[in-house]
Amino acid sequence: MDLKAKMLRDDALKGKTIVVTGGGSGLGKAMTTYFLELGANVVITSRNIEKLEAVKSELEAQTAGKVLAVQCDVRHYDQVEAMVKASVDAYGKVDVLLNNAAGNFISPTERLSANAFDTIIDIVLKGTKNCTLAFGKYWIDKKETDKTVLNIVTTYAWTGSAYVVPSATAKAGVLAMTRSLAVEWAKYGIRFNAIAPGPFPTKGAWDRLLPGDLREKFDLAKKVPLKRVGDHQELANLAAYLVSDFSGYLNGEVVTIDGGEWLKGAGQFNMLEEIPQEMWDMLEAMIRSKKKS
Ligand code: HXC
Ligand code: NAP
Repeated sequence: MDLKAKMLRDDALKGKTIVVTGGGSGLGKAMTTYFLELGANVVITSRNIEKLEAVKSELEAQTAGKVLAVQCDVRHYDQVEAMVKASVDAYGKVDVLLNNAAGNFISPTERLSANAFDTIIDIVLKGTKNCTLAFGKYWIDKKETDKTVLNIVTTYAWTGSAYVVPSATAKAGVLAMTRSLAVEWAKYGIRFNAIAPGPFPTKGAWDRLLPGDLREKFDLAKKVPLKRVGDHQELANLAAYLVSDFSGYLNGEVVTIDGGEWLKGAGQFNMLEEIPQEMWDMLEAMIRSKKKS
């Protein structure tokens, strides 16, 4: 199987302008790259403008697309409003908002200061709210339709997870926002969907979630029924579909792309996977024998 195969036809996103928060690294950069290859114009935003400018140069050399780099801390609504204006000034319109920016680190919750907890909530939940509200108000005010908001959550948005409690709390809020506005703003021609990725190695996530030798100790691939982590192109393929017109009837959906990871953790008897095939004859015989007693 070619995990790096590209899914959509050439020019599938031609004419679209897509804003990717946190578009200068990791999964945001991978999605940005594919959107450009499919003919979209992209705005990449984050706190670090030098990094964004370097990525802009790299991706404009690598693809035929156009990139606008805008410094914007999503925690601050005034900066988000300025980012909306810069995007519209550059391209005339924005069709897609991809809320990808996030902050996270592992910690026992009782070790967190109030500010540490707030920092994650502010980036993930308040940041997504700020961008969604600013673009939503703009689109509704201008009576522009055929818009899409795509939010990146995680599978622990609905299961919760120990040791990343601020992130789980914030992502759950983002999921609720996705489903709520999918209904409320459909009348304005704005669709909302989300992606819940399983493990897709990135420097940003792995440095903060699996520091030092934790990445060997807790090999995340082993938790996945498919026994591997995701390839960035697999996520980019899904994101491109969800922001394209091909997904026009999908609204309020969260698509999990995790090789079955969270379900493996959830199913009560999934641990029986560890039983060798040759033991099943014996176990079956033991169970059948109980009918007689
Ligand atoms: C406890 C910590 C801490 C840690 C920071 N803090 N790191 N507390 N343990 N490891 C505390 C600080 O002491 C401070 O509180 C508060 O958090 C804010 O820290 P700052 O460094 O001032 O914040 P800031 O510069 O805004 O940086 C935000 C950040 C940083 C989240 C802490 O890691 C960051 O910039 N992250 C962005 C990228 C990122 O996180 N990517 C991973 C996404 S992965 P006090 O009280 O001292 O002021 C992801 C994947 C999910 O979401 C699922 C994976 C499978
Ligand atoms: P990443 O490279 O660290 O991406 C996070 C991005 O957010 C960075 O580009 C960062 O840029 C930006 N950012 C952080 N704080 C910001 C702020 N206050 N304002 C604006 N931008 C900010 O990590 P990633 O793994 O690619 O994560 C991307 C998304 O996927 C996140 O939503 C994450 O929760 C989700 N996810 C990832 C995985 C995984 O396995 N990797 C799994 C599930 C979900 P600056 O530092 O320049 O601001």
